[in-house]
Amino acid sequence: MAKIFAITNQKGGVGKTTTAVNLAASFAVTGSRILLVDLDPQGNATMGCGINKRNLDQSIYHLLLGQKTIAEIIRYSDTGKFDVLPANRDLAGAEVELVDQDGRENRLKAALATVAQDYDYVLIDCPPALNLLAVNALTAAHAVMIPMQCEYYALEGVSDLVNTIKKIRANLNPGLEIEGLLRTMFDPRSTLAQQVSEQLKNHFNKKVYDTVIPRNIRLAEAPSYGQPVLMYDPASKGAQAYLALAREVSARRLEQNRINVINA
Ligand SMILES: Nc1ncnc2c1ncn2[C@@H]1O[C@H](COP(=O)(O)OP(=O)(O)OP(=O)(O)O)[C@@H](O)[C@H]1O
Ligand SMILES: [Mg+2]
Repeated sequence: MAKIFAITNQKGGVGKTTTAVNLAASFAVTGSRILLVDLDPQGNATMGCGINKRNLDQSIYHLLLGQKTIAEIIRYSDTGKFDVLPANRDLAGAEVELVDQDGRENRLKAALATVAQDYDYVLIDCPPALNLLAVNALTAAHAVMIPMQCEYYALEGVSDLVNTIKKIRANLNPGLEIEGLLRTMFDPRSTLAQQVSEQLKNHFNKKVYDTVIPRNIRLAEAPSYGQPVLMYDPASKGAQAYLALAREVSARRLEQNRINVINA
């Protein structure tokens, strides 16, 4: 049964899409069955795994509005070796069109339930907002992965997000957990980055992944070729960091399963 992660942070440009695409490819290379869900009208994750968002007859927009089934929309990324629910700017309209519809927060959850047995992980790339699309992701997910840059205002942004997660837990998804905080575009030479990183660890403890994603130009270049970095430059520091993240996430899952068995 798939474990579903929402990769989210309402702050823009923190590495959500880079993480979604490259973690998906890193899982896929080890044989895991992956579905990447692009839930951002920018369609960056779609483009980043080699699917042209401008040529889509149907996209996740049609799924959320109940006009198509998930099977009709899923595409395969040849460069990433995983399945994709693609998005483009049509999705921006979903917010308005869903506003007076019943169960609008549950649309993605209901659709993913029909394919959960086909995957090991579902990764949802969220928009930089706490809107109805993000709420759909947080309602569908088992856990939240929060990419963040270690900058001055980062902690404030994360505490807003944690409050939203608490509200979703209370109203829509009681089992929602924070899986982990991921330090992205990290520069170890920056004193500020190290200070923020320490604060993060003091505050969130083991929720902070040991794996750190360094600033790496290959990660920024790969999307313009429609490729995850693992295909574009597998030896790069960026590719190696996302492989390490995939190993860490899998190890956490195994450990959690072990604890669940002991407690059962
Ligand atoms: N580790 C990294 N090293 C270098 N560049 C990176 C790294 N991670 C992301 N980038 C670049 O930073 C920019 C923002 O990254 P990305 O698109 O993943 O963020 P995002 O949180 O998805 O943004 P948005 O909020 O707009 O959806 C992109 O140009 C991306 O290529
Ligand atoms: Mg993005």
